[in-house]
Amino acid sequence: MKVGENIVLVGFMGTGKSSVGREVGRRLQRRFVDLDEEAVLAAGRPIPRIFEEEGEAGFRAWERQVVHRYSVPKNLVMATGGGIVLDPSNLESLSRAGLIVCLDASVESILQRVGRDRNRPLLQTEDREQRIRGLMAARQPYYEAIEHHISTDGLSRSEVADRVIALVGAGHEAGN
Ligand code: S3P
Repeated sequence: MKVGENIVLVGFMGTGKSSVGREVGRRLQRRFVDLDEEAVLAAGRPIPRIFEEEGEAGFRAWERQVVHRYSVPKNLVMATGGGIVLDPSNLESLSRAGLIVCLDASVESILQRVGRDRNRPLLQTEDREQRIRGLMAARQPYYEAIEHHISTDGLSRSEVADRVIALVGAGHEAGN
């Protein structure tokens, strides 16, 4: 990695971006930033209220604003919202200042991890599994375009963190 380059975790909801990111930050002594939390701070409202009042498009606009602010090398570890990939300019900006790593998980693990969580407006529906499958299928091409992937199925947070650290370390040695 280049000096100051951020580590940016992307991936579908419930792939562990925030919990893994926090752990990677702690271990590498880098500040951890959750872009969902930053969007909440910027909007001054929790995510479900942003969706209620401004729709998904409104939330995406806050997300873009926050992405722009964090597209500078600050030696951070970042977690992003699952939908960040929908606007290709988001990843373009973040990758100018960071190494993008996509966390993958099966529908089954995602269902388990998101539980009955009420903080994700896109999953407030009767049939969560069907919703997850639909969203995943629609986003697949965007996630697939990312160079670095880590499969998280069956791994603990700490094991996924090991892999992220190995990946960014390998990039560093190669002088990438
Ligand atoms: C979203 C994922 C959420 C959050 C918002 C929309 C998405 O973040 O940004 O509810 O479109 O996939 P997590 O991936 O952290 O759950």
